[in-house]
Amino acid sequence: MSDVPVLVTGATGFLGAHVARALAEVATVVGAARRPGVSLDGVADVDVCAVDLAERGAATQLVRATAPRAVVHCAALANAGACERDPALARRVNTAATVELAAACVAIGARLVFVSTDLVFGATPPPPGGFDEAHATGPVSVYGASKRDAEERALAVDPGAVVARLPLLYGDSFGRGLGATDALHAALARGETPTLFDDEFRTPLDVADAARALAELATTADPPRGVLHLAGPDRLSRWDLGMLALAARGLAPDDARSRVRRAPRAAPDLSPPRPADCSLDATRARASLRAALRSPREVLRPA
Ligand SMILES: NC(=O)c1ccc[n+]([C@@H]2O[C@H](COP(=O)([O-])OP(=O)(O)OC[C@H]3O[C@@H](n4cnc5c(N)ncnc54)[C@H](OP(=O)(O)O)[C@@H]3O)[C@@H](O)[C@H]2O)c1
Repeated sequence: MSDVPVLVTGATGFLGAHVARALAEVATVVGAARRPGVSLDGVADVDVCAVDLAERGAATQLVRATAPRAVVHCAALANAGACERDPALARRVNTAATVELAAACVAIGARLVFVSTDLVFGATPPPPGGFDEAHATGPVSVYGASKRDAEERALAVDPGAVVARLPLLYGDSFGRGLGATDALHAALARGETPTLFDDEFRTPLDVADAARALAELATTADPPRGVLHLAGPDRLSRWDLGMLALAARGLAPDDARSRVRRAPRAAPDLSPPRPADCSLDATRARASLRAALRSPREVLRPA
């Protein structure tokens, strides 16, 4: 195993923890996150250093200090509501820091794998089969716009970078109630009756599948470059995904339906703005990666 590390930003987040874990099997890994003193104890044997990527120069300094061979850039102000409330912070963390990372990677010859989102789309409905990589972007939220701007500016600085667009992620958050399905389970455990939209569609992906694909992109000899969609093969509503998750926990269909509120989106007053359908077409990734991008129907089997 090479001693030259792979750097994972946002290593303590829902996705980053899985990326750190997947990479630690094949590489020396160093993690970074905003809050000092956080650790990945029990998840991965990876040290995490503190950095605030909202500060100008912090991303450059982080790359200089860690001298990685590749960076998987998961860190983001990933909460869309927080981005609407503080667009300047969203631009600093999501856009400016990513561009800085891209320049720092070019300076030392490191590979950048930037984690972006299906929410760079939304202004128009997807074609049948979902948005492919060539489709024009059209974000409808501050979050989506900050990521779209990051993609374009990072690729201008580092044309060899990989921009991996991810869909709605679900799966194990190591007991933290993060992500689409663990947040649902946590809400039910608190005695709440969560609402699940039956007319909001995504191509959800298990967070561990996403992490293995990102680890492959960071370490394989000749990865696909530029924009790449990593997504599940099935277009599902939030309701569909929730029902699968509850069945996988052993709930009978009637019991599952009684625990959650099924509702249509009230589109005009949704805040932050959320596209009705951001389905991604991941044909290119399926053809070029070993990592599986499985359907929730395969991952969330009835218990
Ligand atoms: N979750 C999804 O369904 C989904 C879907 C598509 C794309 N994505 C993308 O996937 C990536 C990870 O998302 P996630 O759901 O794992 O988010 P998350 O759980 O909120 O984790 C975000 C990570 O970024 C770090 N971070 C935030 N602000 C920072 C700052 N100013 N400086 C340094 N680190 C900072 C956080 O550290 P602290 O906790 O210490 O602040 C945390 O480790 C993001 O780029 C997101 O856009 C996620």
